[in-house]
Amino acid sequence: TMGFKVAEGPDVEDDWHNFTALNIPADHPARQDHDTFYLPAPDGEGDEGRLVLRTHTSPVQIRTMTAEKPPIRIIIPGRTYRSDYDATHSPMFHQVEGLCIDRGVTMIDLKTALIQFARAYFGPEAEVRMRPSFFPFTEPSAEFDILRDDGSWLELAGCGMVHPNVLQAGGLDPEIWSGFAFGFGLDRLALMRHGIDDLRELFRNDHRFLSQF
Ligand code: DAH
Repeated sequence: TMGFKVAEGPDVEDDWHNFTALNIPADHPARQDHDTFYLPAPDGEGDEGRLVLRTHTSPVQIRTMTAEKPPIRIIIPGRTYRSDYDATHSPMFHQVEGLCIDRGVTMIDLKTALIQFARAYFGPEAEVRMRPSFFPFTEPSAEFDILRDDGSWLELAGCGMVHPNVLQAGGLDPEIWSGFAFGFGLDRLALMRHGIDDLRELFRNDHRFLSQF
């Protein structure tokens, strides 16, 4: 293995860990991409104290940075929530986040980790690519795609180099530490591997469907 250990965090998050600490301030347009389920703020607290069903596993990056000293190598599986419902979206879904922080971590380390994962999960023939993208919490950012049998590319993960503001929010000096992060849609990985068309099948609890696996 590459020495990653598993970390977990709460499904109910506060606004700061889910958004602000990840370089997504209150007025940032990226907030609108995350069809968030909001919970009422505890008494006497404004929006900053507001609770949400976490929209991604990325807040566990912050929780780990504030709790542990680098080097950090973690894999974060967990349930995530967005108000979205169609063949490729379920309001509850799963992500697997990765975070690696050390001295001198580069994009090469990121690419190597992702390629090794893809080959381990999909087989040594898996063809993958990285393409430039944008996420508030990484700079530079990329998307990681895999080539399907029909010749089309499927997006499997977002990734990038951890943004200096995020390291700072986690209490780390960006002059000393650097890191990479990635976030896979776990249910999509399963669809792709097992040839399932509708992601919602995974959660319908139809025994005839589930017993095939
Ligand atoms: N949190 C992103 C999302 O749910 C996925 C993601 C993108 C995670 C880039 C990362 C990353 O760690 O570096 O859309």
